[in-house]
Amino acid sequence: MRLEGRVAIVTGASRGIGRAIAERFLGEGAAVMLNSRTEAELKKTAEELKKSARVAYLAGDVSQEATVSRLVEQTRKELGEIDILVNNAGIYGGLKGLTELTAEDWDRVMAINLRSAFLLTRAVLPGMVERGRGAILNISTISAKGAYPLSGAYAASKAGLLGLTRAAAAEVSAKGVRVNALCPGPVEGTAMWKEVGEGLQRAFQLSKEELAQETNAAILQRRPQRPEEVAAAALFLCSDDASALTGQAVNVDGGEVFY
Ligand SMILES: NC(=O)c1ccc[n+]([C@@H]2O[C@H](COP(=O)([O-])OP(=O)(O)OC[C@H]3O[C@@H](n4cnc5c(N)ncnc54)[C@H](OP(=O)(O)O)[C@@H]3O)[C@@H](O)[C@H]2O)c1
Repeated sequence: MRLEGRVAIVTGASRGIGRAIAERFLGEGAAVMLNSRTEAELKKTAEELKKSARVAYLAGDVSQEATVSRLVEQTRKELGEIDILVNNAGIYGGLKGLTELTAEDWDRVMAINLRSAFLLTRAVLPGMVERGRGAILNISTISAKGAYPLSGAYAASKAGLLGLTRAAAAEVSAKGVRVNALCPGPVEGTAMWKEVGEGLQRAFQLSKEELAQETNAAILQRRPQRPEEVAAAALFLCSDDASALTGQAVNVDGGEVFY
């Protein structure tokens, strides 16, 4: 049990990568607060993951300060002091070229992917610093490091998340808190990759098979990643096994981006 006695918040935990991370953390003994916006889906996930009383959930948009305050307060009340924060909630925001992107599109993606991580980090850090321990993990993407079309707002928001990761690490690593990021490649079976795949097919007039061929050709393992593979890396970075890792952005991409 690598997270025995730890309390974690995982945002965007109703499905996909966030759900896989929550499930892995629970299996390693953590108590986990799940969050996403859609209450019915979140409640269903919480019920499915509930093996003990150590799962809680709170629905709400984490780009809003009021939700963040409630999430942190409720976690402390129901589960205890927060040891781990996983900023996973995110949207792609549609596949658009920069000339089609509206200012509203841009602001929405920035708010959900980046502002939310800032708000939550700011909310949990004082407690972590006071107790001299904590791990924060930001789920970014290889789009933050590579160059992919129709991803302007998404790529910029996720590159911002890497900047936030390093700045936060610089402020709190000497106080016992580690801050890292993960950069997955395409993750199969997720709603996001379905949206992106369908958008790329439309934009470049590719069949599903042609797109899979092109995508896989850029990956050394010649396959997409699975949510469980991202969750395994998340577990490592949030556990004491990664005691000397901070300020890092680790690629979980089967070999696509090399820095
Ligand atoms: N899938 C991929 O190929 C891939 C690759 C690299 C990185 N990532 C990153 O991994 C993370 C998870 O992606 P995924 O593929 O698992 O996506 P997903 O299946 O679409 O899940 C996204 C989760 O975030 C929640 N969410 C979205 N906006 C939110 C908000 N404002 N407040 C709270 N929760 C919110 C969603 O629920 P509601 O909509 O109900 O709120 C859902 O639980 C994202 O940050 C994404 O950028 C994904």
